Amino acid sequence: MCGIIGIAGQTTVTDRLVDGLKRLEYRGYDSSGIAILSGGELSRARAEGKIKNLEAHIKDHPLNGQTGIAHTRWATHGVPNETNAHPHKSGRVAVVHNGIIENFLDLRESLKGQREFRTETDTEVVAHLVDVELENGKTPREAFAATLKKLHGAYAFGVIIDGVEDEIFCARAGSPLALGIGDDEHYLGSDAMAMAQLTNRLIYLEEGDWAVIRPDGFEIFDLKDQPVTRDVTIISGGPAMAEKGNYRHFMLKEIYEQPETITQTLGNYVDEFRLSANIPESVDFKDFDRVIIIACGTACYAGMVAKYWFEQVAGLAVDIDVASEFRYRRPVLGDRSLFLAVSQSGETADTLAALRYCKEAGLKTAALVNVMTSTMAREADIALPINAGPEIGVASTKAFTSQLTALAALALSAAVSRGTLSREGEIRLTRELIKLPRKVTGALELDKMIEGLAFELSKAKSAFYLGRGSQVPIAFEGALKLKEISYIHAEGYAAGELKHGPIALIEDGTPVIVLAPYDELFEKTISNLQEVASRGARITLITDEIGAKSAANMAADMIVVPSSDSFVAPILTTIAVQLLAYHTAVHLGTDVDQPRNLAKSVTVE
Ligand code: G6P
Repeated sequence: MCGIIGIAGQTTVTDRLVDGLKRLEYRGYDSSGIAILSGGELSRARAEGKIKNLEAHIKDHPLNGQTGIAHTRWATHGVPNETNAHPHKSGRVAVVHNGIIENFLDLRESLKGQREFRTETDTEVVAHLVDVELENGKTPREAFAATLKKLHGAYAFGVIIDGVEDEIFCARAGSPLALGIGDDEHYLGSDAMAMAQLTNRLIYLEEGDWAVIRPDGFEIFDLKDQPVTRDVTIISGGPAMAEKGNYRHFMLKEIYEQPETITQTLGNYVDEFRLSANIPESVDFKDFDRVIIIACGTACYAGMVAKYWFEQVAGLAVDIDVASEFRYRRPVLGDRSLFLAVSQSGETADTLAALRYCKEAGLKTAALVNVMTSTMAREADIALPINAGPEIGVASTKAFTSQLTALAALALSAAVSRGTLSREGEIRLTRELIKLPRKVTGALELDKMIEGLAFELSKAKSAFYLGRGSQVPIAFEGALKLKEISYIHAEGYAAGELKHGPIALIEDGTPVIVLAPYDELFEKTISNLQEVASRGARITLITDEIGAKSAANMAADMIVVPSSDSFVAPILTTIAVQLLAYHTAVHLGTDVDQPRNLAKSVTVE
């Protein structure tokens, strides 16, 4: 992961680089740094921790110039301190890097005796390699291109060189990088967000591309160092979309945006007049006898819910796996399988690798993403947008419910094309989807009440989330949200599994959050609730109006979300677990939008 921004400009770049870093902070915030060329001379500033520390450092030790690169880090090799912060420097060369240089130890070994290594990072060796090539008499371009040939692994680079006025060298392999086109200057950035204040005209570098950018132009070269041209993409949606407004945190703002974001998703996948799912013609589920859904983190839980939908409504088998396991277990792919990546960012390294693996194996591939300019959207045969708008909070919320909404519509369309759902059934379930934004608004009205319950939860050391059927992945998601932002240990469990071990952990007062809307599994889930209640657990029951009546007095607390068909119920119970985690974290005073050790976009394996 990590975020990169660079400007080859005509006016001073420091403030604009720092502004770009702030937009990239969702990619990591262990340390940050900046390197600037001024009059051909190179200077740099770095700081441990968040960008505000770098800003304070620059205030005390100003550095100015018209060409510069900057970086925000999510540590992989080396602890997150100032020494290991990018840019790394050797002789005349400064480098920012996103990715992992897998052969860095061999390369370090090859420079033994010649160069002194000051950091524990895999990146520093790249600065030395370029500098050694320069010392050996190569031109800057030759030195950069020759260094790239020595590297194995994943990278996006920005490089500036002392004495080379106005030029930034950059390259991409495995990690995303885009060039930005301005009127009389040029930029580079990890993504469109980095350059949102600067330009909306981008060129996404392709695998193996490298480039030189100057204020007045740029040149792109391919893997064989041949000049190439790449398409310009115009990015829509302005930078204002990433502002916090009156909300205390991006996460809360994004939770509250869900009626609107779900509406936007529905706009793409549901025909409100015909009352049917409306999905691209290029996806016909009749052509497949299996869907392989691969994702990471929250997106994977969306895929798990989709498995219930596709199997129950469309009779279509679904394999679901986390991307980091999938391709290493030599999966049996079959020849009538559709590969479906689910990813908010469209950049998660493991999910992208799984997509490439299946594409190479000849499978039809689709990517359900929030960022339509992402690598997955560009590489999959079919790119499916969720239209949730930029999600800044590291803990995913609105992207999750939009993923679910789109997946529900895809399952509906699969059911119709495979003949497993009557027209009446299609109309009924489509109506349920259309009613979602209003019901989500209803669930959000529980906010104040949930804030009160969260105070109790914030005192806990550990918590369980239980559910059955399509509520199991929501139990996982609820536990994940609580863990990642409040740092309270939590486990999501299939309610029926608890008695096979974890019930031993239940003691007086252990918080157990039970997800049980009134459906065909309600009674069974309530039996499991009683098993833990009788052992002293403090129960919070998340249910709907009918469930609340049936289970009166069985729980210490109840969160009653609007009633719905069980098909869409997972989306409504999600709102409750999001708010519960959010308020618990706020009570505990954690950094809700940027929890420790995490990053929003994980672009390393
Ligand atoms: C990180 C984020 C999670 C996200 C996961 C997958 O771990 O912190 O919120 O669910 O990556 O990201 P993706 O962009 O592929 O959905």
